[in-house]
Amino acid sequence: MNWTTIRKTPELSEPAPNPADATPFSWEAARAELEGLPGGGLNIAHEAVDRQVRAGHGEMIALRWLGKNGERREFSYAELARSSNRFANGLNRLGIQRGDRICVLAGRIPELYIAALGTLKIGAVFCPLFSAFGPEPVRVRLAKSRARVLVTTALLHERKVRAQRAALPDLEHVLLTDGDGAEPGVCSFHALLETESNQFAIPFTAPEDWALLHFTSGTTGSPKGAIHVHDAVVAHRMTGRRVLDLRPGDIYWCTADPGWVTGVSYGIIAPLTNGATLVVDEAEFDASRWYAILERERVNVWYTAPTAIRMLMKAGAGLARNRDLSALRFAASVGEPLHPEGVVWGLEALGQPFHDTWWQTETGAIMIANTPTQDIRPGSMGRPLPGIEAAIVRRRTEGGVDLLEPGAEGELALRAGWPSLFRGYLDDEERYRQCFVAGWYLTGDLATRDADGYYWFLGRADDVIKTAGHLIGPFEIESVLLEHPAVAEAGMIGKPDDFAGQIIKAFVALKPGHAPSDALRKELIGFARTRLGPAVAPRELEFVADLPKTRSGKIMRRLLRARELGLPLGDLSALENNAPGKTPEN
Ligand code: PRX
Repeated sequence: MNWTTIRKTPELSEPAPNPADATPFSWEAARAELEGLPGGGLNIAHEAVDRQVRAGHGEMIALRWLGKNGERREFSYAELARSSNRFANGLNRLGIQRGDRICVLAGRIPELYIAALGTLKIGAVFCPLFSAFGPEPVRVRLAKSRARVLVTTALLHERKVRAQRAALPDLEHVLLTDGDGAEPGVCSFHALLETESNQFAIPFTAPEDWALLHFTSGTTGSPKGAIHVHDAVVAHRMTGRRVLDLRPGDIYWCTADPGWVTGVSYGIIAPLTNGATLVVDEAEFDASRWYAILERERVNVWYTAPTAIRMLMKAGAGLARNRDLSALRFAASVGEPLHPEGVVWGLEALGQPFHDTWWQTETGAIMIANTPTQDIRPGSMGRPLPGIEAAIVRRRTEGGVDLLEPGAEGELALRAGWPSLFRGYLDDEERYRQCFVAGWYLTGDLATRDADGYYWFLGRADDVIKTAGHLIGPFEIESVLLEHPAVAEAGMIGKPDDFAGQIIKAFVALKPGHAPSDALRKELIGFARTRLGPAVAPRELEFVADLPKTRSGKIMRRLLRARELGLPLGDLSALENNAPGKTPEN
């Protein structure tokens, strides 16, 4: 089907086009819209909450929390400022210093938001951990971050942290949001807050001071900790305004989990710095519940993801038609390719098309988007934002890049230098350096640009897997499977899936003395689920006699994928053995 452009007619851009889109852009001008700390310096938490209180908006609702059992709690900007002040004072009392890492392993609960803001206030570094991770990814990230404090729930602590505490010498304090922690090094989050003052003066933090640490994955090695600084707030606020059309008083719902970058950049910082009310739903996806939230909370701006959109599409537009969604002014999507059907379905079911946006953990904020005032080309990620220079490039073998013409396929590159660009991978200078060539940040995504400057996503240049919007590194899963006594070799691929985009499929070669069987397949999947968590473990597992490898012993996942999908095997010259993933029976 030929998808036609969705033109931004006056009805679609009602009530009024975003005036910010009309002003000439410069990062200096965007920075000048921030208040800055009273004594000088820049701090994300000040811009997010304290500034709103100082401006007289303290009684506005900052956070409306919808509990999974029907609870409903509201926090005004003033309350959020006071609670985060208490947490900041508590951290000070525990001896936490600026630059120290504070991890939070929790679902979408109010304490997460208080902890994030309090951490930023003392100049420490906030590092969220996805609550569906199993013990192994949690341990790896806590160890790599050298976190001194972990905020979590009693259940998550018991299941994922407690037994590993001895292996985490830097972790001094575990603060339980719902327990009293009657053991050394574990205490109650609320007891800590209770004794602290509501008042806290944010000390000087410089724009380049570290603020956020987000773990992400590459093809090889353990997860990488992408470092972001306080200056990133310039981009969070600006993109919240210009891309998501956030205005003071808006009711805004970001469905992303704050265990990942979207749930922090756009689930905390962008809405609060723009004076919106943030809706947080603790429950997991449920089509009827989601429509009820959109309707009852009178959501104005909605940011969600293609996996959820596909599930809503499956549930049928009929569910939406009985709802009054007239408050919804803008809907956007991120994290994986948004198919043209999804864009147009939004228009039919919600009365608003989904606006696709593109960015990464490393870019910190939206870089390419279908903005409120720009015509949408369904299937395209949109155009680079003001202040962002993008290109399609080919890496030269001798170093440097060639910039390609419209229509050519190549790697998406961004000219380095915007405020939310990551400032490093924790303890891995070399990997950071490799991301940059001749002043360009190379994204690892393959894309093409049309003659009008719209970018179209083609795929990844590497082997990382996107499942239900979560970026998963194959190496982390392979390493866990290799710990099983029956496994000799393991290779993971992303296998296309109608809902999750991709599911994780494992190929496993067994050690001598072990034979493939259904029972062993189930055991291995169960083993991976227990260690890694269900969101990260393989959903399918196939036994193979041998895995295709390069002469240096690297698994050629490209060949596993090509074989699985019936694609041409391509260049086999690097193959060490002649087994592009043979089954044992072959
Ligand atoms: O491959 C791209 C895909 O998600 C990757 C970034 O994932 P992560 O670092 O987890 O950041 C998630 C928050 C944005 C990208 O390299 N991706 C992201 N947005 C899109 C996308 N793929 C296609 N279309 C998008 N709009």
